[in-house]
Amino acid sequence: MEKREQLYEGKAKKVYATDDPALCIVSYKDDATAFNGLKKGTIVGKGVVNNHMTNLMMRLLETKGVPTHFVEELSERDTLVKKVKIVPLEVIVRNVSAGSFSKRYGVEEGIVFESPTLEFSYKNDELGDPLLNTYHALALKLATKEEIALIERYAFTVNDVLKEYFLSLGVKLIDFKLEFGKTADGTIVLADEISPDTCRFWDAKTNEKLDKDRFRRDMGGVEDAYKEIFKRVTGGSQT
Ligand code: TMP
Ligand code: ASP
Repeated sequence: MEKREQLYEGKAKKVYATDDPALCIVSYKDDATAFNGLKKGTIVGKGVVNNHMTNLMMRLLETKGVPTHFVEELSERDTLVKKVKIVPLEVIVRNVSAGSFSKRYGVEEGIVFESPTLEFSYKNDELGDPLLNTYHALALKLATKEEIALIERYAFTVNDVLKEYFLSLGVKLIDFKLEFGKTADGTIVLADEISPDTCRFWDAKTNEKLDKDRFRRDMGGVEDAYKEIFKRVTGGSQT
């Protein structure tokens, strides 16, 4: 399958058409942004890590009953996916306080929750992805009630599966962001990526950050963190 015209360029990925109207090619870049594009940079090798890691996670989740957009990895940076219309909701699941949760509610980072939390934000860069609840999402017709219920169910399944998986690699899954899409026949599938850009990963022993917070917070060791998490998910091999 070959790339045809570019359909879209996001902050971290480009999307191309293919000869099959039901399929697209996603191409992962090394570009990194934070704070709604205010901070810009490059994380060398990030696209390769995020492409392969996302695909491994999507395949694992498919086996656990979460439908995804994944079709086939084509190269180091390119993946064939089902063409979807992205539901404009960012779905954030948290197991431990960090980031905007800590800031908003005035609590330290690292508080382990008894049950995971789920929140939505409206995927809209111009508005800065504002937080919203189910009533707001329904009022704005971003999804139906049934779709939102399904998305919540899938998101918690993703959390259960990934939390256990990462713990087996010595990594705590602190929080993450998901995006879902709708195929031409209206099926809701998990889309976008699952990577150190979109998850917080802390080493289980040392709590060392192995994710994009190192870039967001100018902590250094950004590339090494991506390499380390990649090494763990690929078991040291590159395949
Ligand atoms: P937050 O604590 O900044 O709200 O982030 C929660 C999680 O969502 C964290 O794992 C990073 C991820 N995330 C994204 O993937 N994209 C975004 O634009 C933001 C703000 C967070
Ligand atoms: N990638 C997002 C942005 O540039 C935010 C983030 O991941 O912190 O806005």
